Amino acid sequence: MPSLQPTASRIAGTGAYVPETVLTNDDLSRRVDTSDEWIRERTGIRERRIARDGEAASDMALAAARSALAAAGVQASELDMIVVGTISADMPLPACAAILQQKLGAGPCPAFDVAAACAGFVYGLSIGDSFVRQGSARRVLVVGVELLSRVLNWADRTTCVLFGDGAGAAVLVPAEESGGRVLATRLYTDGNFARSLYIPGGGSLEPLTPEGIAAARDKVHMIGSDIFKVAVRNLTQASRDALELAGLTPGEVDWVVPHQANLRIISQVASRLELPLDRFVIDIDRYGNTSSASIPIALDEAVRDGRIQPGHSVLMCALGAGISWASAVVRM
Ligand code: UT7
Repeated sequence: MPSLQPTASRIAGTGAYVPETVLTNDDLSRRVDTSDEWIRERTGIRERRIARDGEAASDMALAAARSALAAAGVQASELDMIVVGTISADMPLPACAAILQQKLGAGPCPAFDVAAACAGFVYGLSIGDSFVRQGSARRVLVVGVELLSRVLNWADRTTCVLFGDGAGAAVLVPAEESGGRVLATRLYTDGNFARSLYIPGGGSLEPLTPEGIAAARDKVHMIGSDIFKVAVRNLTQASRDALELAGLTPGEVDWVVPHQANLRIISQVASRLELPLDRFVIDIDRYGNTSSASIPIALDEAVRDGRIQPGHSVLMCALGAGISWASAVVRM
C-alpha cells in the first residue's frame, strides 16, 4: 500500500442495494403466530426485503459497492483496501471481502471481513479512516452486507420477524483541507453478552450434526429483552462519546443515522440525547433490521434524496451481537 501524508478521511460516495422481494408482516403472520399489529407496535417494522434464491451476500455487496464507487468517482482498480462488515458471508472461508474484490475486479489490495454484527459498518468506517489517517491507504471501500434470511429460524417468531437482507457501502478518500471528514469514531465490545445474540452451531465449538440442524443450532438465537436494555444505554453513551471527541454537542448534529433494530430503541436514544425524532433517518418500516447494512442503506438513502447535504454533521450509532457497538461523527 502507498505511504502518504497523514490526513483524515472523508466519505466521497455512498451506495446501497436491497433485494426486490418484499415480505410483509401479514405474510409472516401466515407462517408463525404473530401479527402485523404486534410487529409494528413492538418494532416499527412493516416489511423487509428477502434475497432471491441463488443470490449471495457478495452479489448484494457488489451492487452497493458499484453504486458507491460511481458516486465517489473512484475505479475499483484504484482501491487500496476493502473492509466488509458481515456475519452472513457467502461461506465460512474465504472472507466475503475477498469474493467481493474478485467480482469488482479490484486488487490485489487487503480485503477482509469484520465480524462485529450490527456494528460492522461503523467498525469498518473506523478501520478505513485509521488507514487513511496513518497514510497507508488512499481509497478504502467499506461495506455492510447481510443475508440474514438464510441464518434465521423461520419457525421462531421472536427472531424471524425482525431481520431483512440488504447491503450498503461508502468510499473513503483523503479529506481536503476544508470540507467533509470523519471527525470521530468510537468502538466497544462487551463479551459478557456473547450468548444473548448468537448462532450457537456451525463453528469449531459445535460442528453441525443432523441433530444440530434439526434443532436450528445453525440459526440466530436472541434474548431480545437483554439486548434492548443495554442498547438504549450504550448507544446513548457511545453517541455522547463520539460527539465529545468531535467537539460537537448533540444539538449541533444535523442528522442521526442510527442502526435500525427497533423504533422504540431509536426513540429512547433520541429522547436521552434530547434530539427530535425528525432529525433521525429512519427506514426500519421498509427494511427491518439489516444488521451491518442498516446504517449505510439509510445513509445512502438520505444522501440521495437530499436530506443529508455537503457540510452536514452526521452521527451514526449501532449495537448488536458481541455485544459490539460503535459510533461515528462525520462531516459530509
Ligand atoms: O440488531 C441486533 C440487536 N438486536 C436488538 O437490538 C433487539 C433488541 N430487542 C428488541 O428489539 C425487543 O426486545 C424485541 C422486539 C425483540 C422483542 O420486544 P419485547 O417488547 O422486548 O418483547 P418480549 O421479548 O419481552 O416479548 C413479549 C411477549 C412475549 O410473550 P409473553 O411471554 O409476554 O406471553 C413473547 O413471546 O411477546 C411475545 N412475542 C411475540 N408475539 C407476537 C415475541 N415475539 C413475538 C412476535 N409476535 N413476533
